[in-house]
Amino acid sequence: MSENRGQWSSKTGFILAAAGSAIGLGNIWRFPYVVGQNGGAVFVLLYLGFVTIVGIPYMLAELAMGRATQKNAVGAFSSLKKRSAWVLVGYLGVTTGVGILSYYGVIAGWTVGYIFKTAFYHRSVDFSAFVADPLIVTILFAAFMFLTALVVYGGVEGGIEKWSKILMPILFVLMLALIAYANLLDGASEGLKFYLMPDFSKINGQMALKALGQAFFSLSLGMGLMITYGSYLPKSDNLPTSAAYVSFFDTLIAVMAGLIIFPTLFAMGQSPAEGAKLVFVVLPKLFESMPGGSVVGSGFFFLLSVAALTSTISLLEVPVAYLVDEKKLDRKKIVF
Ligand code: PFF
Repeated sequence: MSENRGQWSSKTGFILAAAGSAIGLGNIWRFPYVVGQNGGAVFVLLYLGFVTIVGIPYMLAELAMGRATQKNAVGAFSSLKKRSAWVLVGYLGVTTGVGILSYYGVIAGWTVGYIFKTAFYHRSVDFSAFVADPLIVTILFAAFMFLTALVVYGGVEGGIEKWSKILMPILFVLMLALIAYANLLDGASEGLKFYLMPDFSKINGQMALKALGQAFFSLSLGMGLMITYGSYLPKSDNLPTSAAYVSFFDTLIAVMAGLIIFPTLFAMGQSPAEGAKLVFVVLPKLFESMPGGSVVGSGFFFLLSVAALTSTISLLEVPVAYLVDEKKLDRKKIVF
């Protein structure tokens, strides 16, 4: 156990940081679009089932591995069992984290772009034209990665905890208000039906696999993140309650995102199967329809960017923790 590893300042700080990792674009951008592409309510049910029976126990296992070994994603496997092929799972986690970060940062960049788009041009946000401009997309991506690096640079206690505390509750309240507003739109009830009334004839294996994948993605599982974050916990903390809180909040935010998107989408007469651009097309229309929409919209995309930031921070922390622990490299150098 190295003395120079960081530790969370409190149990609440840890839960907020783990929830900050879990809650992000996966809940608000990815969840609605995969639900839309996969038949609506049945998919939601499968997702909730997987979160409960696979996700929570799996999260607990990752946290326990991290806390017990006080090691990163790779080191945790090798310190539990010397010279075992299980360590490959750790390497897979580290490389997957880097892979996800490489495109997650791009979508986070779009989100930042939308802060300005909705503020100044909200009546004419053209998604396709926006993402087709390589210069602006690259600049936004780079800026987002720079911000991410800046926070990870500071180490877990200073950087990651602080961010999650104030802004996430604001996002939560704003989302509650948007749910109320969206569900009062004409035609919103069709959307609720699509989202909440399962049609079991649509169920198939492919869909189940996607629901499982979404559960893992959304809960930040399978890439050693919870091992890494668990390794910054003191041994006295109670893990099952932490895993339950994090999973509960993560799932709540995803379900709430659907309660905004689907009523709006059906009220605006759009197709639920738009794919990855769904949120970026539907939400501006919602903001357009309300008084003060440019302020609300730009505030929403700001908070979503912060939620994305607490996730990219965690994605970067996985390889950084590995290199700092195992290769004894300097944190500050390795971050950049
Ligand atoms: N769970 C994050 C989200 O839903 O946006 C994405 C993510 C973060 C996945 C960190 C994996 C991870 F290690």
